[in-house]
Amino acid sequence: MSKEAARVLAELRQDHRNMAVLLNLLQREVDHVAHEDETADFELMQDIMRYMTVYPDTTHHPKEDLIYAGMRAKRPDLAQGLEAVEGDHEDIAESSKRLLADIQAVVAGAYVTRDRVISDAREYVDRLRNHMDWEEGDLFARAEAMMDELEIDTSHLDADDPLFGSEGDSSFANLSQSIGLAAQ
Ligand SMILES: [Fe+2]
Ligand SMILES: [Fe+2]
Repeated sequence: MSKEAARVLAELRQDHRNMAVLLNLLQREVDHVAHEDETADFELMQDIMRYMTVYPDTTHHPKEDLIYAGMRAKRPDLAQGLEAVEGDHEDIAESSKRLLADIQAVVAGAYVTRDRVISDAREYVDRLRNHMDWEEGDLFARAEAMMDELEIDTSHLDADDPLFGSEGDSSFANLSQSIGLAAQ
């Protein structure tokens, strides 16, 4: 495997671990909402979904799209199912925007039913978890197996992760703290 490809794949795997942490936090808050628990933290949910729309949807998934396109071009025989991934990424991005809008409306005091937040959140969490499981259990292994043949350059998509990166964006300071607390 080329050094560059190995780096990109390692970063994608790290992104998945980070997203899994956020999905667990989101799930916890959604469970509070479902139990009509007043401690449900909508601001935290809003930060999580804001991050999801500014990093995974705009950097992580486009990088994967490039890799999968390269795999399909080089080894169509090993590329079964890959044509579905781009659509999957679009569906995930749509779900995340919808859920962010629901939560922003709640935070702004607008009327949004609890059932709608719960169902949109559960759909999003399930969709992204299933998608990441597919990538981890199948697609990344296939990518690894054919990395020597792939010439990919994702450098134009290199953007600092505003939450988990070395220079965190201060607007995610609260979320960063919540992640630290949840890890204790
Ligand atoms: Fe993906
Ligand atoms: Fe991914």
